[in-house]
Amino acid sequence: MAAKRNALIGLLLGAEEDWPRAFEQILGLVGPLKVGGETLEIPSERLRISPFDLTDPVRPGLVIDRLAYWYYHPREWLKKAALMNDTYLLNSPFTFQSMEKHSAYCAMLRLGMKIPKTVLVPYKNPVDNVRWAYTSAKYNDSFDLDKIADEVGYPMYMKPFDGGGWRGVSRIEDQDGLHKSYDESGEMLMHLQATVDYDKFARALSIGPETMVMDFRPEQPMHNRYAVSYDFLSPQAGWEAQTVSKVVNAFFGWEFNSAEMLIAGDEVHPIDYANACPDVAVTSLHYYFPWAITALVRWSVYALATNRPATVDLETRRYYEIADDDSLDYQAKMQGYRALADEHFDTENYWNWCDEHLSHLPEAVLEWVDSDGFDKILLDTVRSTYPAHEQEKFLAHFRGLVGLWVKDQKALSGGPSQTPHPEAAVTDPASQSVGSED
Ligand SMILES: Nc1ncnc2c1ncn2[C@@H]1O[C@H](COP(=O)(O)OP(=O)(O)O)[C@@H](O)[C@H]1O
Ligand SMILES: [Mg+2]
Repeated sequence: MAAKRNALIGLLLGAEEDWPRAFEQILGLVGPLKVGGETLEIPSERLRISPFDLTDPVRPGLVIDRLAYWYYHPREWLKKAALMNDTYLLNSPFTFQSMEKHSAYCAMLRLGMKIPKTVLVPYKNPVDNVRWAYTSAKYNDSFDLDKIADEVGYPMYMKPFDGGGWRGVSRIEDQDGLHKSYDESGEMLMHLQATVDYDKFARALSIGPETMVMDFRPEQPMHNRYAVSYDFLSPQAGWEAQTVSKVVNAFFGWEFNSAEMLIAGDEVHPIDYANACPDVAVTSLHYYFPWAITALVRWSVYALATNRPATVDLETRRYYEIADDDSLDYQAKMQGYRALADEHFDTENYWNWCDEHLSHLPEAVLEWVDSDGFDKILLDTVRSTYPAHEQEKFLAHFRGLVGLWVKDQKALSGGPSQTPHPEAAVTDPASQSVGSED
């Protein structure tokens, strides 16, 4: 058993103010916990960036990181903390740094998931290294881009192998578009990917063992991308979308990630599910924001209070054993992976522990979201996000959606003592409902 960690949550933040403020408020609602005969207080602190000796003590027992993807200094501090102090990380840079979108495609293809046909093509422009010209002349195969594109089929998507935030993504209709996009890709390494003609776009946000599958509309402006809809997927597709998100995270040891899936009929095609720094802004999540930040608090508190081991050991073999078992069909494999994912995240113990120690939290969060305290965060966020002439409109928009969440929760909880239990009904695909919590 690892040494007991400090019960401090560190936040490594960028420009965001909305969710950290909500996180701090909701964490404050947790109160002292009675764990193993002791009283445990779990505070949080916004971490600062400064030079560090590799042997300096690390105070936080758990860190929620929003910087490592872009900045090396905090990333390397996180690695030192994990290696030397067993600091629990959401997320660990050890896998996120090396396993990007491309690796996630490969691994989930191996597990039999329905990833659209994807081809990696070499750089358009030579990489900036004096030895490259020689290497390239000697070893690079020449290739026929048009032939590859014909095999993928038009229309297709060209996107960076490690993409995020729609950087460098283009939809290609024909040969001219193909060459234009490839020329423009420059020193970015690109995939060509077959287009999925989808009926629904599902975006699942997973935090530890909690998953919310949401109806996403990428063509809409940011504030309108998530629709509030409960039954936008069939029970089967809904279960599968949840499962993809959980399995990806368990497989790679990710704790806080979003998965984008294109749903055609009942077929679930994952296309983008390696997002080390998923969007949790109140101005995009709105209705789902209170759930997301509560889940972040709940899972962090659970991990610290139960001294959950922090590890970068992956158990890929266990997944591959299922993947390689020819007697199992797709559904049986997905069920097998889902069981491994629930084991990884300790799903059952987690909910039991929350019932025992955090059953007061949903009601307290509901009261707070319904108060001026939350409204102030919303107001400040709208003021810092939108131009003055649009603020009133957006404030009304978000107040309406958050108000709807409050109303729905009041109807659902039916009384202060009941914990809405997102995973409780999740046992078999036939009994799923999707778009509500989880
Ligand atoms: N294979 C595909 N079929 C249909 N649409 C796609 C496909 N791949 C990407 N898209 C569209 O392009 C957008 C950006 O691609 P995505 O892989 O999500 O990149 P990023 O990691 O930059 O978000 C998606 O949200 C979707 O609207
Ligand atoms: Mg995306």
